[in-house]
This record gives sequence, C-alpha cells and structure tokens, in this order.
Amino acid sequence: MTPLVELQDISVRFEIGAGGLFGRARRTLAAAERVCLAVGEGETLALVGESGSGKSTLGNVVAGLQAPSAGSLRFRGRLLDAATWREARRAIQIVFQDPFGALDPRMPVSEIIVEPLRIQGSFSAAERAARAAALVEQVGLPKDALNRYPHEFSGGQRQRIAIARALSPRPALIVADEPLSALDVSIQSQVLNLMKELQERNGLAYLFISHDLAVVHHLVDRVAVLYLGRLVEVATREALFAHPQHPYTRALLDSVPRIGRRRPRGRTIGGEMPSPLAPPPGCVFHPRCPKAQARCRAEVPALDETGPGQRAACHFPG
Ligand SMILES: Nc1ncnc2c1ncn2[C@@H]1O[C@H](COP(=O)(O)OP(=O)(O)O)[C@@H](O)[C@H]1O
Ligand code: SF4
Ligand SMILES: [Mg+2]
Repeated sequence: MTPLVELQDISVRFEIGAGGLFGRARRTLAAAERVCLAVGEGETLALVGESGSGKSTLGNVVAGLQAPSAGSLRFRGRLLDAATWREARRAIQIVFQDPFGALDPRMPVSEIIVEPLRIQGSFSAAERAARAAALVEQVGLPKDALNRYPHEFSGGQRQRIAIARALSPRPALIVADEPLSALDVSIQSQVLNLMKELQERNGLAYLFISHDLAVVHHLVDRVAVLYLGRLVEVATREALFAHPQHPYTRALLDSVPRIGRRRPRGRTIGGEMPSPLAPPPGCVFHPRCPKAQARCRAEVPALDETGPGQRAACHFPG
C-alpha cells in the first residue's frame, strides 16, 4: 500500500463548559485520542464505531475541517502545514450524510457541482460548464439536472449531486461520512454501486465512515474500528470478518445480521459507551468487556499486530 494520507498520533480535544452560564469548570472531551492510521492510494478504508465514537471528528481532521489538538498528518509523504494544505485541500474532498444540508438551495446544480473549481480560480467558465456536464453524466443524473435546484431532487439524487461536487476538483481521496444513512434502503445499494464505479473510473481512495459493518462489507479493503476515540482494531476486510481480534469488533459483528452466518446473533455487549469526558482507566473498553481482567483496568493496551494485516488494542486478543 502506498500511503496517501497518514495520521500520526492524532488527538482531538474539545474544551467544554468553560465559563458557561452555570460557571462550570472547563472539562476536556477527548473525541480522538492518539490515532495512527493511513489511507492508501486507491484504497477504501472503512471507519466504523457506534455513534459518538469520534468517526466524524477524525473524518473532519482528514478533510482539513478540524484541526487536531496534537499529532500530525501527512499527504503523499509530506507533512501537512498551512502551505502544504493548499494542494491537499483540493485532493481531499468530503461527502456528508445529509445530502440536503450540504447543498446550497439557491444554486443550480451546474454551479453547485463546480463550486470547488470556482473557489480554486484556475478554470474558465466554459471549462467549468464542460466539467459540470461530464460529472452529471458520470453520477447518473439526467442532463437537464444542470439547470435545476437541489429541492427538485430525491434524497438519492441529491447525494449524487454531492458526490459529483466532491469529484469536480479530481480528488485523490473522498471522505464519505455516513453517505448512505439518510437514504432509503432501496437507494443505498444504488449509491454504493455508483461509488464503486466512480472509484474504478477515477482511481479514488475512500475513507468510508459508517456505524454499520454490514454496509461496508462489500465495498472496503480494510476496516478501522473506533471506540471512544481510540482505534481498537485495524484489519483487512477478510481478516476482520473472519477472525476479529478485539472483543468490541466481535460484538459489533455479532450485532450485524448476515446471511449464511453460523454464529448466533444478538450476542451484543451490554451497557453503553462511557462519556468521553470521563474515559475509564486502562483499556477504555473494560467496563463492557466480557474478557476484562485486572490488567485491563490498569494498563492501556497498544495497537499491536496480531497477524498479517491485522492490529488490535487488547491485552488478550483473539
Ligand atoms: N465541536 C464539538 N464540541 C464538543 N464536542 C464535540 C464536538 N464535535 C464532536 N464532539 C463530541 O466528540 C465525540 C465524538 O463525536 P463524533 O466525532 O461526531 O462521533 P461519531 O461521528 O462517531 O458519532 C462525541 O462525544 C461528541 O459529542
Ligand atoms: S484489553 Fe482487556 S478489557 Fe480491553 S478489550 Fe482486551 S480483554 Fe477486554
Ligand atoms: Mg458522525
């Protein structure tokens, strides 16, 4: 794998409650804690975890929308700073869950799609118009879509518009933050297939954020599992689905209904994810872990290799 984007020890902390109405003390919320992760050229990496685990925060860091509190990012080997972000910003685009909120209702599709090019400033109006026309076709929208406005389209079509917009500056990576979650189930597979097709055609990499492992199963090369802002497992799709090493990954898989699976379903973990304001000591998963032992409460497990293409942060993997 040739790394495209590399995250090294990325932490994102939000200071909350500072000088608020009730004079609460400042508290630090760790939305991401020392995350090391790379997305390869042309790769699809899924970022999964339950709501509040820090997926969007990390996706925003990768897309340059959220500055990390600590750690560094590299793009094609170069450390990203204010100057190098200029190129990376074009090469990394993002598609959000809500395809309506993300589109300016007063702009026709022809302008929405090439807005990133207009901001860049290095394309003529004719070049932008030609690019918009080509993109509308690539994402499977009718030609006359160009002169229409977002509200005239269905949810699935709007997500196609958002995808066309992300594609317009010819990115190397698209961060897709739960791009299917707001769509009808019948539409989800169409948009998923479109994303696959566009990837082959454009040599794109995806950071595909999802709370649902079933959705990512057919699309991804590798999976990164987040829990309370920490990576708990990173593995190739094959390894992760065949032999998950972290108890949390196992629990996530057990909660996914899948055809042809022998393992009994519904063996989900009890309890809820603790607040990121007060993460448990040691392994943050220990209060919910069926395998927890004394060592787990005292010692933070490192994300160590457990087999080829597989790393897990657990003292007792497997
Ligand atoms: N701007 C912010 N200010 C304070 N807390 C935030 C902010 N953004 C996210 N959080 C908190 O960070 C944690 C991770 O959120 P998020 O990245 O949205 O998770 P996910 O996308 O996995 O649901 C949550 O506890 C959330 O409440
Ligand atoms: S380190 Fe201990 S508590 Fe954490 S996941 Fe592994 S067995 Fe469970
Ligand atoms: Mg999110």
